[in-house]
Amino acid sequence: MKVIVVGTGYVGLVSGACLADVGVDVVCVDIDIEKTENLKKGILPIYEPGLETIVKNNYERGRLHFSTSLADNIAGADAIFICVGTPPGEDGSADMKYVLSVAKDIGKYMNDYVTVITKSTVPVGSSHKVRAAIRESQAARGVDIPFDVASNPEFLKEGAAIKDFMSPDRIVVGLDSDQAKEVVDTIYRPFLLNGYRILYMDIPSAEMTKYAANAMLATRISFMNDIANLCELVGANVNQVRQGIGADPRIGKKFLYAGVGYGGSCFPKDVKALLKMGAENQMPMRLLEAVEAINEDQKKVLFAKIERYFDGNLSGRTIAVWGLAFKPNTDDMREAPSTMLIESLLKAGARVRTFDPVAIHEAQKLFAANPDLRFCEDVYETVEGADAIALVTEWNEFRLPNWERIKALVANPVIFDGRNIYDDIMLSKEGFRYFGIGQSHP
Ligand SMILES: NC(=O)c1ccc[n+]([C@@H]2O[C@H](COP(=O)([O-])OP(=O)(O)OC[C@H]3O[C@@H](n4cnc5c(N)ncnc54)[C@H](O)[C@@H]3O)[C@@H](O)[C@H]2O)c1
Repeated sequence: MKVIVVGTGYVGLVSGACLADVGVDVVCVDIDIEKTENLKKGILPIYEPGLETIVKNNYERGRLHFSTSLADNIAGADAIFICVGTPPGEDGSADMKYVLSVAKDIGKYMNDYVTVITKSTVPVGSSHKVRAAIRESQAARGVDIPFDVASNPEFLKEGAAIKDFMSPDRIVVGLDSDQAKEVVDTIYRPFLLNGYRILYMDIPSAEMTKYAANAMLATRISFMNDIANLCELVGANVNQVRQGIGADPRIGKKFLYAGVGYGGSCFPKDVKALLKMGAENQMPMRLLEAVEAINEDQKKVLFAKIERYFDGNLSGRTIAVWGLAFKPNTDDMREAPSTMLIESLLKAGARVRTFDPVAIHEAQKLFAANPDLRFCEDVYETVEGADAIALVTEWNEFRLPNWERIKALVANPVIFDGRNIYDDIMLSKEGFRYFGIGQSHP
């Protein structure tokens, strides 16, 4: 089986490496020359636990190849996975230009039947556009080579991507041909040996499933953030409320954590794209409008708490910001809530000392050099002379630091916990004032 994966970002690189790991001959194609050359040397463009080992092993075993040329590698491919980005366009809709450019290239270079599988998150109806773009390129060459299109949205979570790909909850596939089904069945069979979890459906439903899944998760987060903010006003504690409602199996425990708002490369853009899809179909998605608005406000909550604590004057204050990535176990800084917090702190005249176990390199690309912003080696360096600590990303290593040592280093022992990972009573015993999200503090 030969598979081409176009786009070696989070989705493409993980998919390509995992497919190679079960024995498939995989060529990962990317237009980024530097990224491709680095991958050949074993230098990965992203941090994802376990990925480096799989990439290096399979590259060395000759099952995983990297190239910038689809034309040179397309011969003999059974399937091509399109895994390029679909960032939000100016109007919020998913920008299809990268996906369609790949489709055009496929039509330009293919010489035999192939199944073209879109893994990128694309609006409903995109597979028709992919099909049309391939046909158009074929027509320009004066050829009519059969092919199928399929939609196979990806549900992997950054930070747990290998596990998610290797043992998926479910694989959603939209297709309309038996030949494509046979190809998809063959590719995914190794991942499903302990239970059959491919959900076949029509193509529009598969495309919609991805957006609906992310929108549902974003909704749970915004819902809990709304409840959290009300908890603060009425004297309740959202952590206790979360446990109370999560115990109901109809609700479930996951994605009920109040915090600093969702970020990352998927939820914000997919919610936007779904809103746009609704508007285009004269169907305002009122719930999602609220989800997005709540999230925008929630990203400001930690800053507001810090500002209030210092009576509106942050000038000359030093704030230690713990965590930069939009969530733990990734270096992805796309739409990370830390960005808005740091920008607001700097704008208010504060000095920021920050640390993240893996995302500093990515974060440095986002902020212009600024004497008031210092990237540190560890949490202890961030707290030297700090007037407050703000926890933004709940990395494991932040869960139980040496409080005694921290207390000795800070100028003022106060913690703003944007992820509710600390215990108010325990921290007050350590001599810290504590402010969480959705908790009333006397
Ligand atoms: N990141 C996630 O956790 C995640 C999860 C599920 C789905 N998705 C979806 O998967 C898609 C890819 O996301 P990502 O985070 O992997 O993107 P990414 O930005 O990390 O990577 C995209 C890659 O595609 C390459 N590319 C762009 N145009 C190309 C072309 N014409 N030919 C070859 N390569 C090209 C880029 O150079 C880049 O390396 C998006 O639609 C996203 O919404 C992402």
